[in-house]
Amino acid sequence: MSLIECRGLARTYRRGPEEITPLDELDLDLEEGRFVALMGPSGSGKTTLLNLLAGIDRPTRGSLVVDGVEVHRLSRSGLARWRSRTIGYVFQLYNLVPVLTAYENVELPLLLHGLPRRERHRRVAAALEVVGIADRRDHRPDQLSGGQEQRVAIARAIVTDPPIVLADEPTGDLDRESATTIMDLLKRLQEELGRTIVMVTHDPRTTAWCDTLLHLEKGRLVEADREVVS
Ligand SMILES: Nc1ncnc2c1ncn2[C@@H]1O[C@H](COP(=O)(O)OP(=O)(O)OP(=O)(O)O)[C@@H](O)[C@H]1O
Ligand SMILES: [Mg+2]
Repeated sequence: MSLIECRGLARTYRRGPEEITPLDELDLDLEEGRFVALMGPSGSGKTTLLNLLAGIDRPTRGSLVVDGVEVHRLSRSGLARWRSRTIGYVFQLYNLVPVLTAYENVELPLLLHGLPRRERHRRVAAALEVVGIADRRDHRPDQLSGGQEQRVAIARAIVTDPPIVLADEPTGDLDRESATTIMDLLKRLQEELGRTIVMVTHDPRTTAWCDTLLHLEKGRLVEADREVVS
């Protein structure tokens, strides 16, 4: 069985009298443990799809089933709970809270989980260790490089142990060396921790780390499921 199943997934936005449908009738099956590169021209619906998979946005039509859960049927609060258990999200521009330290940024998602302080501390320390930034725990985002900020953002995305990590152009703003560090790190999440990863990317070089290539054109998948390496 697939971990992620989309059937006829569509999202329509209304702007006044105008309607646009950035994602149309999308069918997709992804197995657990994949590292997916999601490519396509600007405006082809990549972020729209990622936001639907994340439960940040809801489909206008169609179904999204993740690990047997009918995500499209969840209530607003049910969706928020499901998201916090299931999804880690990494943004292109890190989205760290500027006044909080690296440690506090990573701890943030755990505050919703009602864990005791000692357990929170254990998990934050482990996540900072995984991304190799434990020595920067007391630095604020403006005291870190772009690559370090993105590593903190990845620690924040994995600190709740989500089975699925979604990343929207995680290397889009980084130089090549930092991008390589981030890609190696995402690969370790897949290989060592068994995470399923879906990454939007414009950079063909980053697909070398992935095992599945998806290409969106005008809201539809073309050449879906072509394997690049295994
Ligand atoms: N909240 C919204 N309201 C109205 N239109 C939207 C909204 N979000 C996205 N769109 C439109 O949907 C289309 C697809 O947007 P999306 O952000 O998914 O593209 P993308 O493939 O991620 O592009 P890029 O590579 O530039 O990030 C665009 O035409 C965009 O303007
Ligand atoms: Mg986008």
